[in-house]
Amino acid sequence: MVAIVEAINLKKTYMLGKVPVEALRGINLHIDAGEFVSILGPSGSGKSTMLNLIGALDKPTSGRLLIDGMDVSKLGDDQLAELRLSIGFVFQFFNLIPRLSARENVELAMSIANKRKRRKRARELLETVGLKERMKHKPVELSGGQQQRVAIARALANDPAFLLLDEPTGNVDSKTAREILDLIHMLNKEKNVSIIMVTHDEKLAHEATRTVFMVDGNIAKELVN
Ligand SMILES: Nc1ncnc2c1ncn2[C@@H]1O[C@H](COP(=O)(O)OP(=O)(O)OP(=O)(O)O)[C@@H](O)[C@H]1O
Ligand SMILES: [Mg+2]
Repeated sequence: MVAIVEAINLKKTYMLGKVPVEALRGINLHIDAGEFVSILGPSGSGKSTMLNLIGALDKPTSGRLLIDGMDVSKLGDDQLAELRLSIGFVFQFFNLIPRLSARENVELAMSIANKRKRRKRARELLETVGLKERMKHKPVELSGGQQQRVAIARALANDPAFLLLDEPTGNVDSKTAREILDLIHMLNKEKNVSIIMVTHDEKLAHEATRTVFMVDGNIAKELVN
């Protein structure tokens, strides 16, 4: 089986003017296809930095990072962009386009050229996330939880190798958070989508099959739940 993530002594240092900020100090992490991994840790511990590297949104300062078998430090900008298409992102603040309907938001993310196929697939995805009756609604006409479901459907648009979620329940109430977690479980178990989720919420983190604890740019421990 090909690992979806293989990090070896991975480091990321940001430069704030002339001051280096060591956000990741030597991460070793292996994630297999099919896993549901949560990343837990205090603010500033490097969780988002880690997720951005795994999502090929940024490059490591040193160390090795293989994503879906590809060595990111050896890829050019075009190849990185292509790799990014095979990754689904979900953020805390949904990031939907306000003037587009739920269906159009999902369609827009698709790389399929054929418009009819795009529409059909967008409809299927919105059904999968439980929004069959809300396809024509614009983001302001949807609840926070529904907007996050649209964002998840959009993240699935190109059949990604895995989903990256950064605090997906950070902006919704606890009941809605529960529903989003149930959806994530369903995608993992029934649709075989690999999941990597950053969260502050310990209870939610322990629902993953494995939890990685980050402290100060390092992995402090890993727990199989
Ligand atoms: N673009 C940047 N330039 C400089 N420093 C940065 C940058 N992004 C993050 N950092 C620093 O890197 C460290 C890790 O930040 P990161 O955003 O990964 O933390 P986090 O664990 O996601 O925190 P939070 O839980 O608050 O989202 C922090 O000290 C942060 O200030
Ligand atoms: Mg963060």
